[in-house]
Amino acid sequence: MEQQVQKQRIFSGIQPTGNLTLGNYIGALRNFGILQDEYDCLYSIVDMHALTVRQNPAELRKACLRTMAIFLASGLDPEKNIIYFQSQVAAHAELGWILNCFTYMGEMSRMTQFKDKSAKHADNINCGLFTYPVLMAADILLYQTHLVPIGADQKQHLEIARDIAERFNGVYGDVFVVPDGYFPKVGARVMSLQEPTRKMSKSDPEDTYIAILDRPDVIRKKIRRAKTDSENAVVFDPENKPGVANLMSIMAALSGRSMDEIAAEYDGKGYGVFKDAVADCVIATLEPIQNEYDRISADKAYLQQVMDSGRERAAAIAHRTMLKVRKKLGIAPWKL
Ligand code: TYM
Repeated sequence: MEQQVQKQRIFSGIQPTGNLTLGNYIGALRNFGILQDEYDCLYSIVDMHALTVRQNPAELRKACLRTMAIFLASGLDPEKNIIYFQSQVAAHAELGWILNCFTYMGEMSRMTQFKDKSAKHADNINCGLFTYPVLMAADILLYQTHLVPIGADQKQHLEIARDIAERFNGVYGDVFVVPDGYFPKVGARVMSLQEPTRKMSKSDPEDTYIAILDRPDVIRKKIRRAKTDSENAVVFDPENKPGVANLMSIMAALSGRSMDEIAAEYDGKGYGVFKDAVADCVIATLEPIQNEYDRISADKAYLQQVMDSGRERAAAIAHRTMLKVRKKLGIAPWKL
């Protein structure tokens, strides 16, 4: 354990694929900002995870920089937090390999994300996709992480990271901190606007999600077209009214209001009025982030500096863990 660290440590990552969504914001990114004062935080753009699916190199490069600019625009302070690209710290791959040797095939084949992704990319079910959760465990364990802010869909992966840490510690003593998840109270699973029984996902068609960078008119249009039901009642009932429940959750997450308050204000007013209010709430959250994004993404020198300093600071912490792991395993470096 890192004795000199006063604050507890946080690690989380987001894949730089497609457009970051309101789901990513409510499930993860917003909490990154909330937690940055109390914890010692690393937030990574996990570009190596993105390679499990074929990427166009020019598009990937743009998506990586866009994701970093969104991190910064949403209020993450690069002095307080370490913001960096996963692929620039080689220890992720190193520890990933080592942890592969402490993970069972059976565990990986039970992962729901693997099952979903291999169904979506049936022509490219590669080994990286299969062992993806091991790399994610390495990301987390490398930094002796206490807390991992994530959405509900990553819970199973976090459990595996805990299992691997405990297994390794069981053999070699206390090498890794065993991490806990940190989930938002409301909005841990923001749903698709068109199929509200599925999670909102950046790899689905555009009209199913709100992108963090969608401009106000697009946001309003998408929310007005969101699937609801024919009852015209603003009542929180996820089972029977998943579309309305999803919009209520989005509003509750962004405004801090309770479901009861929202129902009391909008029930009986019709879905048109309610949807416009949800759109207002989303726009009020995202518009300032978009303005910051426009400013930051034009400042290449600043992005370069954040990227370089993040890499160095992350690598220094990772290096300490790797020395410990190598020593325990009996692999170099040694003093002969
Ligand atoms: P990714 O890139 O799919 O999503 C990034 C974060 O956003 C959350 N999220 C959601 N939350 C609520 N509702 C949704 N509809 C929604 N969609 C996405 C995710 O739960 C996640 O927190 N494997 C991870 C990336 C990763 C990682 C890590 C995370 C790699 N290494 C280490 C934490 C720690 C992923 O694919 O997230």
